[in-house]
Amino acid sequence: MKNTPINYEVVTRKIKESGINDLGKATIREIVALVNNITEETGDKFVRMEMGVPGIKPPEIATNAEIQALKNGVARDYPMLDGIKEIKTECSKFIKNFMDIDIKPEGCIPTTGAMQGGYAAFLVAGKCNEKKDTALFIDPGFPVQKQQFKVLNYKFDSFDVYNYRGAKLKDKLESFLKKGNINSIIYSNPNNPTWVCLNEEELKIIGELANKYDVLIIEDLAYFGMDFRRDISKPGVPPYQPTVAKYTDNYILLISSSKVFSYAGQRMAMLCISDKIFHRKYPDLKKQFNAEEFGYVIILRVLYALSSGASHSSQYALAAMFKACNEGRYNFVEGVREYAEKAKTMKKLFLENGFKIVYDKDIDQDIADGFYFTISYPGFSSGELIKELLYYGVSAISLINCGSNKTEGLRACVSQTQKEQFPDLEYRLKRFHEDHAINI
Ligand SMILES: Cc1ncc(COP(=O)(O)O)c(C=O)c1O
Repeated sequence: MKNTPINYEVVTRKIKESGINDLGKATIREIVALVNNITEETGDKFVRMEMGVPGIKPPEIATNAEIQALKNGVARDYPMLDGIKEIKTECSKFIKNFMDIDIKPEGCIPTTGAMQGGYAAFLVAGKCNEKKDTALFIDPGFPVQKQQFKVLNYKFDSFDVYNYRGAKLKDKLESFLKKGNINSIIYSNPNNPTWVCLNEEELKIIGELANKYDVLIIEDLAYFGMDFRRDISKPGVPPYQPTVAKYTDNYILLISSSKVFSYAGQRMAMLCISDKIFHRKYPDLKKQFNAEEFGYVIILRVLYALSSGASHSSQYALAAMFKACNEGRYNFVEGVREYAEKAKTMKKLFLENGFKIVYDKDIDQDIADGFYFTISYPGFSSGELIKELLYYGVSAISLINCGSNKTEGLRACVSQTQKEQFPDLEYRLKRFHEDHAINI
């Protein structure tokens, strides 16, 4: 039996009991359950990098506003489907202040997480034009969104953006759009899982092609403002969060409270539809929804059917956060900057011990320090590396499920690792490196 930092026999047995043949294909939640099982038996604390759980306490502005709303009795009332007035107006102002984009409050709609906002947007985007039955993901991407497509039984195409950065993005996108079957393009920026940040040139390309081919852009801003290389935290002052909305009106933005405001547990986000798309009539929607205006179908047909609105009290929490940011009373970038500091140290520890950063560049710059980074180790496939790292008390997920064509890569999330665990991480990675000589 091998001598590894986490008991070899227990890890081997728990992997076997999980029934997962290839850990490279396991979902995030399957890895979470496996690590929980190992920890329960061994009592050893893992350096957990598999799940994007915020590692910061929610701001009191949010929790106090939510408590107050509950005390005022909002739990009694069904919220309006399109959201409370405060959240709509403050969100519209937030988008103006931090993106320099105008969206009327009517198009700013609270949803139970960006998960639901995305689902509703995908659902309707897929029905706007009968000839356009396929969505296009700029990958790597957030695996659960692909799961949503499976639930919807909708078609999607995708490509790994790694080799198509900058001007090269145009031809690649057009090779799909020319076929005439694409209804929407989906990406997150900053990107989960690679932390690639699309730049203005790339967003301009995407926006101009959205106009040319009449497709919807679904821009997922789950990590709003978290490209810490540029400080977008001052309301109404450049620089702003980069966005495709500068280059097209065919857009939908997903703004989540989960990471930026550490409010994941309350499942609160905003689905923000451009003024043009909100009122645009798509005759093909009529058959299924008996209505043809995009915004109307989203709110009064789809969100009504999915959950009949979003939690009343948490709308007050997010409204209070938007308001505090708009009035310069809360700096949301500073609130989460510690993720970048952690990423810097953690990446260094991996690099010193033979690992490589897989998505290493943002065109000509090193990838920024943020919520995620990607790692590989020479000679290991992603499934093998996840497995082997478990014996060393480190957990991560594979990039394969994220639509990456790098079969050797893992996504590492920094949020759950506490700074006090860095010595443990260092020791475990050193041991890993010693035990796995790299043959050059
Ligand atoms: C890119 C991306 N989109 C959406 C979500 C989900 O956001 P929410 O918690 O608001 O549902 C996440 C969460 O990890 C994400 O990374």
